[in-house]
Amino acid sequence: MIIAIDGPAGSGKSSTAKAVAARLGITYLDTGAMYRAVTLKAQRLKIRYDDDTALGIIMAHTTIAFEGLPPDVRVIMDGDDVSADIRSDAVTKSVSDYCARDVVRKFLVEQQRQAAQGRSVVCEGRDIGTVVFPDADVKIFMVASVEERARRRQKDFAAMGVSKSVEELIKDIEARDHKDSTRANSPLTKAGGAIEMDTTGMTLEDQIMFIVNKVKT
Ligand code: DC
Repeated sequence: MIIAIDGPAGSGKSSTAKAVAARLGITYLDTGAMYRAVTLKAQRLKIRYDDDTALGIIMAHTTIAFEGLPPDVRVIMDGDDVSADIRSDAVTKSVSDYCARDVVRKFLVEQQRQAAQGRSVVCEGRDIGTVVFPDADVKIFMVASVEERARRRQKDFAAMGVSKSVEELIKDIEARDHKDSTRANSPLTKAGGAIEMDTTGMTLEDQIMFIVNKVKT
């Protein structure tokens, strides 16, 4: 069984997807973390987002794995735990540029399909229901108001000891939304057959039950 959850930054995908996976006892696949890991590696190697040749080389020499069970899933790149580094401001600001490249997407989409072979997964991202798993059993498209999403991001940052204003976060989120939904390659868009879920004002438990009930019916 495949549960595909797409939606913009801060719509509630990650916490909900992790919790649904834990409740159903199935694998959780965070595809955004994979795009973040590649961005981190490219930045460390000083490879620009538009250098497709160099990106192609690193893609062929990068391993990305997940360890642990949700909610505590660690992202391991080339053997190192990069779970914290992939959430840095520098990565968050550039990931939309790197993830728009064909060479990056082709490679990661293939890895995502392989990761789901022969097992049930909850997979979250931007193109899961449209491109990666168009035949998913359940497709959810999560949305929330930009103010609510900025408030959630503010809490996430506060948990990491970083203070950010809601205004600044709204600007960052709007910029990323724009890039993610207007790119030529697999833009963020609601998949055919996806159920739209507006999480503004919903509790995490409401969100989990909404999806678990769709699986059961
Ligand atoms: O969900 P996130 O914020 O960790 O995702 C990071 C970036 O990766 C986001 O700006 C869009 C991109 N992404 C994508 O293009 N396709 C996916 N399936 C998942 C994420």
